[in-house]
Amino acid sequence: MNRNRAGLLALVGVLALSGLGTSTVHAQAKKVVSSYGPTNQDVTFAQIKAERLAVKAERAKAHAALLASRYELMPAVGDALMSGGKAVPVGPTARLTGTSWDGLDKLTPEQIKEKGLFPYPPLPFPDHAEGGMLFPKMTIDVLPRLVRFDLDFDLPEHVLPEKAPPIYLTTRPDLGDVSKGKVVTLENYYEIFNGVLNPKQLEGLRLLVTQFPQQQFNATEDRRTDRADGMIGVACFDCHVNGHTNKATHLVGDIRPQEFRHRINTPSLRGVNVQRLFGSQRALKTVEDFTEFEQRAAYFDGDHAMAAKKGVNVLERGSQVHFMSEFMSILDFPPAAKLNIYGELDSAKAAPAEVRGQALFFGKARCSACHPAPNYTDNDMHNLKAERFYKQTLAGGMVMGHDGPIKTFPLRGIKDSPPYLHDGRCLTLEDTVEYFNLIQQLHLKATEKKDLVAFLHIL
Ligand code: HEC
Ligand code: HEC
Repeated sequence: MNRNRAGLLALVGVLALSGLGTSTVHAQAKKVVSSYGPTNQDVTFAQIKAERLAVKAERAKAHAALLASRYELMPAVGDALMSGGKAVPVGPTARLTGTSWDGLDKLTPEQIKEKGLFPYPPLPFPDHAEGGMLFPKMTIDVLPRLVRFDLDFDLPEHVLPEKAPPIYLTTRPDLGDVSKGKVVTLENYYEIFNGVLNPKQLEGLRLLVTQFPQQQFNATEDRRTDRADGMIGVACFDCHVNGHTNKATHLVGDIRPQEFRHRINTPSLRGVNVQRLFGSQRALKTVEDFTEFEQRAAYFDGDHAMAAKKGVNVLERGSQVHFMSEFMSILDFPPAAKLNIYGELDSAKAAPAEVRGQALFFGKARCSACHPAPNYTDNDMHNLKAERFYKQTLAGGMVMGHDGPIKTFPLRGIKDSPPYLHDGRCLTLEDTVEYFNLIQQLHLKATEKKDLVAFLHIL
C-alpha cells in the first residue's frame, strides 16, 4: 500500500536534490522507503508506531474538519426503525453553502461544478495516505482486538447499522432473527447455530468468524495493532457483522496511485444469493471467487508479495471456500411485511405516502430502471458520471476523481445499512434521494422526495 507513497516521497526527495546535500537526501529517502516498504526488516515496530503517532492528531483534525464542512453530524432520527429496533437516521445531512436544495435544483450540472456546490463528492478515507481496515467503535467495544493505534473510525454511530444486526435465514424464515441479539463470534457461534445449520454450514460459519492475518493486523513490525501475538488478524464477520455490516471502511485494492483509490464501505452479505456481481467495481462472478479474493488480495491491499510476508491464509476451494459460501448464501434480506409476492407494495397494508413513493420509484423518478422489484437490483453496473458535478481537485488527500462504473446495490432492507453508496458519502436515505435527484436531473418536489424515502423504508 504505502510503497506508492514512499515512491512519491522519494521522488520529492530527488526533486529537492539541487537544494540539499546528496547524503541528506539519501538518508531521507532511505528512512521513508525502509519504514513502509516490504524491506522494512531494519525498522522496528516502535519506530513505525512513533512515526504514525506523530501525525495522528493532525490528520484526525483535518479529516474532522472536512466532515464538518460537508455534513451535519448531530444525531437526528425519526420514527422509522431498522429491523432490530435501532432508529433510522434522518437527513439530508449534507451541508449546502450559499444555496438551498431548491436553488441547487435550478442549476445545471455545469453550473454546480463551476460554483463548487455539489454536496456529494467522493468521501476520502479518514487518513487517505495511510488507508487499511478501520472498524467503528461499536464493534471494537465487543472485539477490542480490532483497535488500531494510529487511526480512529470517523462517522458517528447514529449513521451506522445496528451493533448486533439481526440474522435471517432463507432456510428457516419461521425462526425470525436467529442471532439472539448477540454479535456472532468464534466463542459463541456453535452454541447459537448448532441445531439450525448442517455441519457443513456450521464449519463455513466457523471460518467466517475466525481471524486470519491481514495487512494492519498481523505479527510483523509493520502492523497497526499493539498486539503481536500469533492470534492477531481479522475475521470476515469483523466487518460483515452477523452477515450484515458495521460499515467498517477500507481503501479499494485495485486502484493506484493511492490518492485515486476509492474509500469503500463494507456491504451487507444479506441477499448475496440473488446477486450475480460482487464488489463495487471488480464484478467478481461468484461469492466463492470473492471469498478467495478477500483473504488473498483485499486483506493485503492487492499486494501479493506483502500477503506472503504477513502470513496469507490460502483457503482451500472445495472444503473451505464452498463451506463459507454456503453459509453466506442462506443470509436473507430482512422480512418486509408490506411487500407482496412480486416485491411490490401490498395495497391493503400501504400508507398513502408509501403508495405515492412507489409510483414515483417506478414512474417519474425512474429508480426501477436500475433497481427493479423484487430485489431492487438489476445485477448490473452503471456509470452515474457524478463527476459532471465537481472538479477534479484534491480533498483530504484524495483526488475527487471519477467513480467509474459501480454495481447497483440491492435496495431490499436498505434502511438497515446507512451510510450509503460504495464510499458512504450519503449518510441517510434522504441524502441518497437528493443525490439521485441531481444525478438523474429529476427536479423532484420536496413532498415527492419525502414520499420516495417513505417507500425506501418499507423495502
Ligand atoms: C474491512 C472489513 C472487511 C473484511 C474483514 C471482509 N470484508 Fe468482505 N467486503 C468488505 C468491503 C469494503 C467490500 C466491498 C468491496 C468493493 O467494493 O470492492 C466487501 C465485499 C464483499 C463481498 C461482495 C459483496 C457485494 O455486495 O458485492 C463478499 C461476498 C464478501 N465481502 C465476503 C467476505 C468474506 C468471505 C470475508 C472473509 C474472508 C470478508 N468479506 C472480509 C469489507 C470486508
Ligand atoms: C442508472 C441506474 C440507477 C438509477 C436510475 C438509480 N440508481 Fe440507485 N444506485 C445505482 C448504483 C450504480 C448505485 C451504487 C452507486 C455507488 O455506490 O456509488 C446505487 C445506489 C443506491 C442506493 C444506495 C445503496 C447502498 O447499499 O448503499 C440507494 C438508496 C439508491 N441507489 C436509491 C435510488 C433511488 C431512490 C433512485 C431513484 C430516485 C435510484 N437509486 C436510481 C444505480 C441507479
